[in-house]
Amino acid sequence: MPKDLKEQIAEIESHSLCRLTRCTSADEIEQWRVDIMGRRGELTTILRSLPDLDAKTRPVIGALANQAKVQLESAFDKRKEELASQLFDVELRNMGHLDVTLPGRSIPSGSYHPTTQIVREIAEAFTAMGFQTIEGPEVELDSYNFQKLNIPLHHPARDMWNSLWIKQETNDENASLLLRTHTSPMQVRIMENNPPPVRVLVPGKAYRYEATDATHEWQFTQIEGLAVDKNITFANLKATLEEFARRIFGNRRKARFRCDFFPFVEPGAEMSIDCFRCDGGGCRVCGNSGWIEILGAGMVHPEVLKGVGYDPGVYTGFAFGMGAERISMLRHGIDDIRHFHLNDLRFLRQFA
Ligand code: DAH
Repeated sequence: MPKDLKEQIAEIESHSLCRLTRCTSADEIEQWRVDIMGRRGELTTILRSLPDLDAKTRPVIGALANQAKVQLESAFDKRKEELASQLFDVELRNMGHLDVTLPGRSIPSGSYHPTTQIVREIAEAFTAMGFQTIEGPEVELDSYNFQKLNIPLHHPARDMWNSLWIKQETNDENASLLLRTHTSPMQVRIMENNPPPVRVLVPGKAYRYEATDATHEWQFTQIEGLAVDKNITFANLKATLEEFARRIFGNRRKARFRCDFFPFVEPGAEMSIDCFRCDGGGCRVCGNSGWIEILGAGMVHPEVLKGVGYDPGVYTGFAFGMGAERISMLRHGIDDIRHFHLNDLRFLRQFA
């Protein structure tokens, strides 16, 4: 019996090695592995029978079987590698001429739209000053877009915002819907849902029923800001917005605040920076005035605070709103706001 086993092992070894050289595909070589070394493979069967042998023959046969196993395994690995490289050569030959000196093909990659870029940059400037960024609905109720911002129904101040109406309810005007004309309604939504203190930045789309020209689009991006707490003064407004202007337009910029009217702030102001092109001397960019208006701002109106349940005797705050495209235009010297929506790659690639 041991003699038989010895012979069997030798026989398995030689015919397996022989068969291995004839394997020419991945399938064939796998089948070889299953037949010889698999769970019911020829060699495996012998290894499994070892425990039935008597104590004297077991080590002898065991050693032989294991040697065979090691040898067959390494022959298998070698053949597998050989086959893989042969198959690769065949594939290459089928591909025809391969010119390794050709330049590689670059994978086209996209980039952020200039509006997204400026919104992120501005948000970063305010994040550094403790503001959180939040977005809000573009379809808004009349009450939030106007009434709660101290702009009553039929009030002439509404003429400042030509609106795109979705639904005008004459019975219940509070239910009228429009595309928000500014991001200011989010001031109210945020204060209604959060106790003070509040420091938020709200970027988002706004819509106006207006003719389009180089500086006006019917859809554009606004960035609203709001800070409410105890003891917030106009000095905080100025310091915050001056810091923002320096971060976006450079350290040397000076700011100018002048009175302006917005129904939801008192006092209201417009902020300008000295022209970065001519340093205030007067040029085409600033219309020869030396100053460029960049945003509207003011101290939150006590009526607005009262409306959201904040006590205007205890809390004060400032708010501001700016056009993101306008800031980007000034920053990059873009001469027409319509470029932002034309989807012209020659324009967009300059911001990649
Ligand atoms: N919502 C104003 C507009 O669209 C801009 C604005 C002005 C926002 C003053 C403010 C503000 O928060 O205080 O024209």
